[in-house]
Amino acid sequence: MTHTERAWSRALVTSVRPAASAEATANRGRGSYWITTFGCQMNKADSERMAGILESMGYREAEAELDADLVLYNTCTIRDNAEQKVYSYLGRQAQRKRTNPNLTLVVAGCVAQQEGESLLRRVPELDLVMGPQHANRLETLLRKVDSGQQVVATEEHHILEDITTARRDSSICGWVNVIYGCNEHCTYCVVPSVRGREQSRRPEAIKLEMEGLAAQGYREITLLGQNIDAYGRDLPGITSEGRRKHSLTDLLHHVHDVEGIERIRFATSHPRYFTNRLIDACAELPKLCEHFHIPFQSGDNDVLRAMARGYTVERYRRIIDYIRELMPDASLSADVIVGFPGETDVQFRRTLALIEDIGFDLVNTAAYSPRPNTPAAAWSNQLTEEVKVARLQEINALVERCARQGNARYDGQIEEVLAEGINAKDPNQLMGRTRTNRLTFFNAKARDGHLYQPGDLVKVRIDVVRSFSLTGNPLPISEQH
Ligand code: SAH
Ligand code: SF4
Ligand code: F3S
Repeated sequence: MTHTERAWSRALVTSVRPAASAEATANRGRGSYWITTFGCQMNKADSERMAGILESMGYREAEAELDADLVLYNTCTIRDNAEQKVYSYLGRQAQRKRTNPNLTLVVAGCVAQQEGESLLRRVPELDLVMGPQHANRLETLLRKVDSGQQVVATEEHHILEDITTARRDSSICGWVNVIYGCNEHCTYCVVPSVRGREQSRRPEAIKLEMEGLAAQGYREITLLGQNIDAYGRDLPGITSEGRRKHSLTDLLHHVHDVEGIERIRFATSHPRYFTNRLIDACAELPKLCEHFHIPFQSGDNDVLRAMARGYTVERYRRIIDYIRELMPDASLSADVIVGFPGETDVQFRRTLALIEDIGFDLVNTAAYSPRPNTPAAAWSNQLTEEVKVARLQEINALVERCARQGNARYDGQIEEVLAEGINAKDPNQLMGRTRTNRLTFFNAKARDGHLYQPGDLVKVRIDVVRSFSLTGNPLPISEQH
């Protein structure tokens, strides 16, 4: 049995300690909470659901982290620096707990899953350590804490359909999980061991959640999964043509017509499973936005093989070519790792060349970081930090140049922007995104005096172009349609 399997099969571990004071138990739900979220959109979506649970229990949001009666860190372990962050945050809270025993300390998310019980040894002040599959069980787990236990919930768990209303940060753009977990075996990646096996939600449940959001005034939905192209492969059913009954493409058709939702996005895509049928659907369905986030990780076939990604650079290019054939204005973003074990300078240059050739709008870059329970971490051909940092700097300069060049195409263009809120730095401006996901600021007041509001879909003429954002002016009402 591997270390990972052992972690998953472990039963709920609880260690008894003096019961919480009667006062603390009676106060459960009457205090304030604070959640800090690290990591990806999956974690952000989980945090919104956990905040919803806390509010349904009677907690209110604290004004400051150091005042809160319950502090929850929803953690990420994708790279070592992400993991280390949480320990420094925890240090401060552990100190607070020594003078305030009624403080409840929770570590959720991917570090919790990875470390489990050993987190309790490292930070004995913790009350609850809970893996991502347990997010919807927060209330039950806190009740166990009340009975005087330190609780570790990291066993594999079938994710319950959402029973609580999430407390969402935005009232215009919402996230909807469609598949949890990941069954891939990328040799560098910790996600499968911390997020568990793939679990797809039923299309009916996804549509119902979207209808509920539309009724509350949401206009844009991002469908979420670590490997969203795998959606449906764990659900039963075969069509009369012998295809799987449930795929991402079928799901997009199924949810497309939810009234009130104007835009649909999805992330994250895996080149191995990205089909032409999916691209056809994106081109056909008007609410699907022309932005594709498809990580490629490396521009060299031997590195891709060592990463066990299951595609070649040629296949990746064919995907991009087909997207551009059907949607010439589509924007493209990706993730890439530099300094993977054994990566030569020539191989690194192939990654640079691919970025330059394709002309991505955005690329998230990272230096390879060895992770626990992953094959590549044990290889002897690790590169030095020095080489990794130098490659990261070089690639970041290129990424910025491409982003700037890519944004230049918006200069003077009229773009549809969904206003998401007010620009924190200038209350006269709204901020939002183009269909291609470019962050855009624009004056709330048009020259005809019309005042646009968050939630409006506004045609904006772009007149300032930066590397990572755009600024413009809204067209008057008479020119909006
Ligand atoms: N499921 C997505 C992304 C998963 S994690 C995919 O398959 O592409 C987000 C990004 O973190 C990855 O795309 C990768 O670029 C980066 N990443 C994952 N593990 C890493 C590691 N060990 N070191 C550095 N970057 C890593
Ligand atoms: Fe990690 Fe690969 Fe799964 Fe993405 S597809 S989450 S990189 S194992
Ligand atoms: Fe991090 Fe977990 Fe997401 S490791 S990137 S929070 S799946």
